[in-house]
Amino acid sequence: MADAAAWLTIQPLGARVPVPAGQSLLEAALAAGIELPRSCRNGTCRACRCQMVSGSVRYRIEWPGLSPDEHEAGEVLPCVALPQGDVTLNQPLARRAST
Ligand code: FES
Repeated sequence: MADAAAWLTIQPLGARVPVPAGQSLLEAALAAGIELPRSCRNGTCRACRCQMVSGSVRYRIEWPGLSPDEHEAGEVLPCVALPQGDVTLNQPLARRAST
């Protein structure tokens, strides 16, 4: 397993996955077999939007598709969000990929 730069916890599923440096939260979740809602993967469609319970992120792109109010309320776009330390997301639609 690659060295984790941070850990991502996904509630209410209770999954905890490593996030290697340079990976978005969505990429790390998918690599660990956790399915999150998604579509464009480039920060525009908002399909992946969810609540960040704790932690902080920065974005790969300059203008992720979040309004200032949503940003203020702690909403994030995991497809383009890079964790700044450990992060916890609340995404009730997350599920473990069937094998
Ligand atoms: S998947 Fe489209 S904004 Fe994240």
